[in-house]
Amino acid sequence: MTELAPVAHTTVDAPDFASWRQTRQQEIEAALSGWVSANAPADLGEAMRYAVLDGGKRLRPLLVLAASEAVGGNAGAAMRAGCAVELIHAYSLVHDDMPCMDNDVLRRGKPTVHVKFGEASALLAGDALQALAFELLLPDDGSMPAETGFGLCRQLALAAGAYGMAGGQAIDLASVGISLDQQALESMHRLKTGALLQASVTMGAATGQCSAEAAAQLKAYGAALGLAFQVVDDILDVTADSATLGKTAGKDAADDKPTFVSLLGLQASQAYASTVLERAHDALRQSGLTHTDHLHALADWVARRNH
Ligand code: IPE
Ligand code: IPE
Ligand code: MG
Ligand code: MG
Ligand code: MG
Repeated sequence: MTELAPVAHTTVDAPDFASWRQTRQQEIEAALSGWVSANAPADLGEAMRYAVLDGGKRLRPLLVLAASEAVGGNAGAAMRAGCAVELIHAYSLVHDDMPCMDNDVLRRGKPTVHVKFGEASALLAGDALQALAFELLLPDDGSMPAETGFGLCRQLALAAGAYGMAGGQAIDLASVGISLDQQALESMHRLKTGALLQASVTMGAATGQCSAEAAAQLKAYGAALGLAFQVVDDILDVTADSATLGKTAGKDAADDKPTFVSLLGLQASQAYASTVLERAHDALRQSGLTHTDHLHALADWVARRNH
C-alpha cells in the first residue's frame, strides 16, 4: 500500500477531545440500541440492528452534538437528531453495498447486510431505518418541541433525498467509467456525502439559537468538512488496507469510479483535503461562537483518520 503523510491541518487545542468523543460515542451507541428494536417481524429487527450497531465512527451524531453544544442547544433533541442522521447514514451504507450498487461484501469489519441476511432483507432494513429516522424526530411523548421536530425533519429529508444523498448516489452510479472534471466531481461529493454531514451541523445548530452570521458560518463549516470527508474517503480507498478500513480497499479503482485520486492523484488530493479543511476551521473562527473546540477537533479527526 502507498505510504503517504497525513493530511496537513491546523491543530486546534481541545485537550478533552478524546474523552469527550469516547463518552459521546458510548451515549450514541446506547441511544441507538434503545431505539432500533429487535422486535420487528421476521429477521427485520435483527438485520436493522446488525446494520446500525457495533461499528462506525459515529461522525454524524458527534457533529450534531458538537454543533448543538456550540449554540447551547437542547441536548435531548440533539441526541434524537444525531441518531436520526446516523440511521439515514446506516441505511445508505446497506443499500450502497448491495450488488445493484457497489457490490461490497465487507462493512465495518463484518459481512455486509445482504451477505448476512439476503438482498430482500437488506433492502427492507434500509427502508425501515429511513422511516425510523423520521420517527425519532417526531416523538409523541413531548420530548421534542414541535417546531424543532418539524424543522429537523425538513432538513433531514432535503439532505437524504433526490437533491442530497440519493441524488449524489445516482450521479455516482451514472459516472462509472466516465472521467468527471473537478467541478462535477465536487458536485457529486457534495451531494452523496456532503449533504448529510452538512445537515448534521445545521441540525445540531437548530436545537438551539444563534445569529444569522453564526448559522451561515456553521453551514460553510459543514460544507467544507463534508467535501473534505469524501476526498479523504477516496484517498483511504487507495492508501489503507481492508483490515484497517473494515471495508474492501482498492474498490474505487477496481470499479472505475471517478474519485479525487483518479482525477488529481494522491499528492494533490491530499493537498486539496488540507485546503478544504482549513476552510472549515476558518468558517468556525468567523462564526463568532465561542464553544467550537469540539467542532474544530472533529474537522482534524476527519483529516487524520485511518479508516
Ligand atoms: C463511509 O462513511 C461512507 C461514506 C459516506 C464515504 P463513514 O466513514 O462515516 O462510515 P462509518 O459510519 O464510520 O462506518
Ligand atoms: C458512499 O460512498 C456514500 C453513501 C453511502 C451515501 P462510497 O461508496 O464511497 O462509500 P464506501 O467507500 O463504500 O464506504
Ligand atoms: Mg458508493
Ligand atoms: Mg461504496
Ligand atoms: Mg468510498
